[in-house]
Amino acid sequence: MDLYEHEARDLFAAHGVPVSAGLVATTPEEARAAATAIGGAVVVKAQVKTGGRGKAGGVRFAPSPDDAASAADAVLGMDIKGHTVHKVLVTAASEIAQEYYFSFLLDRANRTFLAMASVEGGVEIEEIAASTPSALARVPVDALAGVDLAKAHEIVAAAGLPVEVAPVVVALWEVFVTEDATLVEVNPLARTKTGEVLALDGKVTLDDNAAFRHPGHAAFADDHAGDPLERAAREKGLNYVKLDGEIGVIGNGAGLVMSTLDVVAQASTELGGSGPANFLDIGGGASAQVMADGLEVVLGDPGVRSVVVNVFGGITACDAVADGIVRALEILGDQARKPIVVRLDGNNVDEGRRILKTADHPLITLADTMDGAAHQAASLAAQGV
Ligand SMILES: Nc1ncnc2c1ncn2[C@@H]1O[C@H](COP(=O)(O)OP(=O)(O)O)[C@@H](O)[C@H]1O
Ligand SMILES: [Mg+2]
Repeated sequence: MDLYEHEARDLFAAHGVPVSAGLVATTPEEARAAATAIGGAVVVKAQVKTGGRGKAGGVRFAPSPDDAASAADAVLGMDIKGHTVHKVLVTAASEIAQEYYFSFLLDRANRTFLAMASVEGGVEIEEIAASTPSALARVPVDALAGVDLAKAHEIVAAAGLPVEVAPVVVALWEVFVTEDATLVEVNPLARTKTGEVLALDGKVTLDDNAAFRHPGHAAFADDHAGDPLERAAREKGLNYVKLDGEIGVIGNGAGLVMSTLDVVAQASTELGGSGPANFLDIGGGASAQVMADGLEVVLGDPGVRSVVVNVFGGITACDAVADGIVRALEILGDQARKPIVVRLDGNNVDEGRRILKTADHPLITLADTMDGAAHQAASLAAQGV
């Protein structure tokens, strides 16, 4: 999960990384009040989960509270690379002497953590990293040894940063490890004209697999960025991604669901349809409740006109899955109104098919192959049943 800058800023502050005073605002009036409370010149910054806000006009200097209000008025509602701005961070403006780049990240290819640092930070870092790779120091960090002050000095020296940055590097490592992040990036890490070192921008990616260790991280879950069906699916613990088409797809195992999306897209395009409506992996234990939850989410999408259920019985055999589908439709009752094409294969497939045939549910059609299921669902969607 990626955090907003203001959330990253709060985590930084909690771990002793120096940041400037800041308040979140969702209206120009709130921005004016925030600027008044902070005092002096402020910077009004779009809160969207994408970089390049400065270049897009989403970061504005405001010498007075009135200017902060009009800056917020201009920035709120802006579209930055497809992200609508719903809130701004109003933060004390610093007089920057120099902008550095700093990050800790998980270097998967080399199976280690990595510190990256440069004296040439700021909004051009991507270009600099591409044109002058030597300007960006890369120092591997051993997961067990971590970053103490001595290691921080090594990193800082490799990048040619001033020694005052070293304690900030230790604090950023604290954020990285304690919060289970896979990325902590500060650009710019600024040195001000008064000699302070401040994190003026922050990008943090938290490791969702470690969420169970951080009940507090649930507060970062994003109401604005997410689709309501995706939120409902998340609450049920389902692996669901909303897409734009008309054919619901449910399968067990991410690979099988991905292939199903491909054949559904193909079959649907042939009939002039709009393709898959979602990705939904119900995982290995396709119990009745999980199947009911999955069908409820998929059928809750008003754009869905038919559904493909593609299950390969493994540890959970096809008869259990078939039972699950039948009981799921009982649980859903009137909520289930769209045709469902089921393709089962694998462990105990004959018994699974027998169960579905015996149930003789008016919404269920059985298909022999994945391709057949996709074509049938596409033609049911085209008929507008
Ligand atoms: N609090 C601040 N005081 C002064 N300048 C700032 C402040 N915050 C950002 N800036 C300037 O705006 C630039 C872009 O802001 P930043 O937060 O890095 O957004 P982005 O990386 O999305 O463009 C920074 O490189 C810095 O020069
Ligand atoms: Mg930045």
